[in-house]
Amino acid sequence: MRLERLRLKDFRNHEQTDVSFPPGIIVLTGPNGAGKSNLLEAIHYLSYLRSFRAGQDREVVRFGTPFAAVEAKLLDDAGRPFEARLVLKGGQRYVRLNGSDVTKFQDFIGRLASQFFYPGELALLTGDPGLRREVLDLELLRLKPALAPVYKQYHSALLQRNKTLKLIHPAPGQRRRDSGLDKALAAFTQQLVSAGTQIMRERRGLVGVVDGHFSPLYESLAPPGGEKVSLRYLSSVELSPDDQVAAHYAQRLAAAADKESTLRYTTVGPHRDDLGFILNDSYDLRRYGSQGQMRSAVLAFRLALCELSRLRLSDDPILLLDDALSEMDDERKKRLLKLCRSRSQVFISSASQREVELIAPLASAVYSVEQGQVRLVKG
Ligand SMILES: Nc1ncnc2c1ncn2[C@@H]1O[C@H](COP(=O)(O)OP(=O)(O)OP(=O)(O)O)[C@@H](O)[C@H]1O
Ligand SMILES: [Mg+2]
Repeated sequence: MRLERLRLKDFRNHEQTDVSFPPGIIVLTGPNGAGKSNLLEAIHYLSYLRSFRAGQDREVVRFGTPFAAVEAKLLDDAGRPFEARLVLKGGQRYVRLNGSDVTKFQDFIGRLASQFFYPGELALLTGDPGLRREVLDLELLRLKPALAPVYKQYHSALLQRNKTLKLIHPAPGQRRRDSGLDKALAAFTQQLVSAGTQIMRERRGLVGVVDGHFSPLYESLAPPGGEKVSLRYLSSVELSPDDQVAAHYAQRLAAAADKESTLRYTTVGPHRDDLGFILNDSYDLRRYGSQGQMRSAVLAFRLALCELSRLRLSDDPILLLDDALSEMDDERKKRLLKLCRSRSQVFISSASQREVELIAPLASAVYSVEQGQVRLVKG
């Protein structure tokens, strides 16, 4: 995937930006507050139809203006051009693909494939497990859209099961005798187990495949003979042997009945699982990793997802690296840049002149950003 041209209108501090980009590594440089992250945010917005940092759509509309627009000309890896346009106005999103309105956002998300890293992305490692599950699920749905109904079934079964638990146990530890409710609970449990088992198996499979790319990528970021990090799908349900997963899941739920009579919600299943980053086969990177190591891990993870997309969907996502190099030592920076060279298109923003000098020889273009104005300085 490649972004050939980007036009922004009243998107954050970009009043009017119209800029063309070559493939390869693209550097955005400029002082703090210039609008570098804003530009990457706009590309990300068009990709995921939401911001990586704004809580609400209206935050990205330039102060005092009625709407923001992001327009892109793209080229997929098969050389097919397409155009995407997003307008944010009055809390509404209007999306067009090749000139036609898109109303089902699900059809649009993933069309402009991108992976991103920004400093807050460390939360992917250190934050709530929900973030990691979301990334896995997003990726799974992109690779296997046929799983969408399974997720739907799982969420609906989970919701109904939790409601039923609250009816059976009106207060913690209390129990209402009602055979109708007991039957309903058994039915929802069965649906939960059926869909949940599929999700856990798919996620575990995905983590295995991503790890196949991630571990060597991490290794090439770390110093020779340095630490190793691998990915592991962490579930409270035993996920082997394959044909026993449903039985294990059902057993775990049965064993949790006492606990669930107090808590009144479902305590076991894919909605509680996690993705672990394991240092040297034994330790949780979140607890023992340095800042630079954790950054490297998140970057290797994003690179691994790019590689997976390239192999499975014949599409190398645009990589958006917002201020990704800071806090990495020079050797790690150089190794990261080397990995970036093999990707279709990579945007790297940096406010550091020294960093820019390091990247520039490898870059196909350097742009300066100042007060929302973008200017080509080398390329
Ligand atoms: N809705 C908005 N309308 C107008 N300006 C905005 C809006 N939202 C943010 N800004 C401005 O955008 C600027 C921040 O831009 P951005 O985050 O892209 O900076 P940056 O170039 O990435 O800087 P840094 O090097 O510090 O990361 C700030 O000056 C901020 O006031
Ligand atoms: Mg920034």
